[in-house]
Amino acid sequence: MTKEKFPIHAQWSNRTAFILAATGSAVGLGNIWKFPYITGENGGGTFVLIYLCCILLVGLPVMIAEIMLGRRGKQSPINSMKTLAAAEGRSKAWKWLGWMGVIAGFLILSYYSVIAGWAMSYIFKTASGMFLGATADGVNSIFKSFVGDPERVLAWHTLFMVMTMVVVSRGVKNGLEKAVTYLMPMLFILMIVLVIYAMTTGYFEQGALFMFSPGAITGKGILIAMGHAFFTLSLGMGAIMVYGSYLSEDYSIVQASIYIALADTVVALLAGLAIFPVVFANGLQPGAGPGLIFQTLPIAFGHMQGGTLIGVMFFVLLVFAAWTSAISLIEPAVAWLIENKGHTRVYASVVMGFWTWLLGLGTIFSFNIWKDDTWSIPFLFHNMHFFDTLDYLTANIMLPLGGLFIALFAGWIMRTSSSKMELNTVPAIYKIWHFLVRYVTPVAVIIVFLRAVGAI
Ligand code: PHE
Repeated sequence: MTKEKFPIHAQWSNRTAFILAATGSAVGLGNIWKFPYITGENGGGTFVLIYLCCILLVGLPVMIAEIMLGRRGKQSPINSMKTLAAAEGRSKAWKWLGWMGVIAGFLILSYYSVIAGWAMSYIFKTASGMFLGATADGVNSIFKSFVGDPERVLAWHTLFMVMTMVVVSRGVKNGLEKAVTYLMPMLFILMIVLVIYAMTTGYFEQGALFMFSPGAITGKGILIAMGHAFFTLSLGMGAIMVYGSYLSEDYSIVQASIYIALADTVVALLAGLAIFPVVFANGLQPGAGPGLIFQTLPIAFGHMQGGTLIGVMFFVLLVFAAWTSAISLIEPAVAWLIENKGHTRVYASVVMGFWTWLLGLGTIFSFNIWKDDTWSIPFLFHNMHFFDTLDYLTANIMLPLGGLFIALFAGWIMRTSSSKMELNTVPAIYKIWHFLVRYVTPVAVIIVFLRAVGAI
């Protein structure tokens, strides 16, 4: 639409490149680190079921909408929303949706980078052989002493932020395509290897039952499951929108979205199936929190054949997956700085990288010097420290809110003729999608919000 006005960002070379980059954004720490621990904290089966329903009924339609808005707007989410709203004769205030996304991406990356830093240090811990024959207690104390040391964690966080900003400053297209082509399938295979190991622990059934047999869940648990559907698919903050804006006209958005959502979900389920059997086999707690994979998988690596090599590969690929997600978290902000402030890509990346890095200190301290500094906001959350608060605010509030408005925009603000033309799909599929973004997604998000605060 406004391609001529903003030729400043490069386009993907083909559809596969877009799917790979978007899958790279979606598959990350959310699938392998976060999904298992929040599943553990929220009781398993019912949580997973709600998460899966949210992926299908809320996530997928919002993803289609977000890619569509990006491709039509052709700029950073802030400017895309402004242009699209103007084109439909609506208020420019829709650009605030883009702003909320930029802020959410910045907040998420600040803690995402710290966790990616943990994963990076585990490459070397595993390689050193320190987990060979390790016990649950041993692995636990290694984890506790590592996250308890702010300086060491800071070094890894710094390295990860630098790695991320190097890619962003060169433009997300360069290098990303090739890397994702090889490394994503490798991650996939490695996850399957880990699941096969989990089958040998004698606790596979228990792990699988924990994940798939329904039990109790709270209103908050439902909110976390829905929030995670947005988080894991990179939705509600413009990441997928900005990738969509680098996509050219003639590709099927619906088909691409299905591939991305499917790959993402399979990786998360494999991660759960690899981790929970190890949890039960070693008498660990599924609700152990953000340290869960770091306290369980090293035990598996310490005991399986070739565990050191497999473990090193696993953490390398995890860092890589985190890297391709981190890039997309900050890209909307960088794209906006380039468009509106006339900064070069390099300058914009350095500025954003610096502030994100600085905010990351709060997450580092949440596991040591600020460990006991928790606070509560009535109805919203209870006894959370800095990291929990950031995570809760972004994943469970900002992303679903962003997704809600994206659905409303695509379903109600945009003319049917515009969205029909842009999606260019079979009429039946268009109808289903349109119904979902108009009614199902908004109603679901609002109900879940109201339930979480105890209003219904
Ligand atoms: N989807 C990524 C993950 O699961 C995280 C992410 C969230 C990336 C939002 C971009 C935007 O790890």
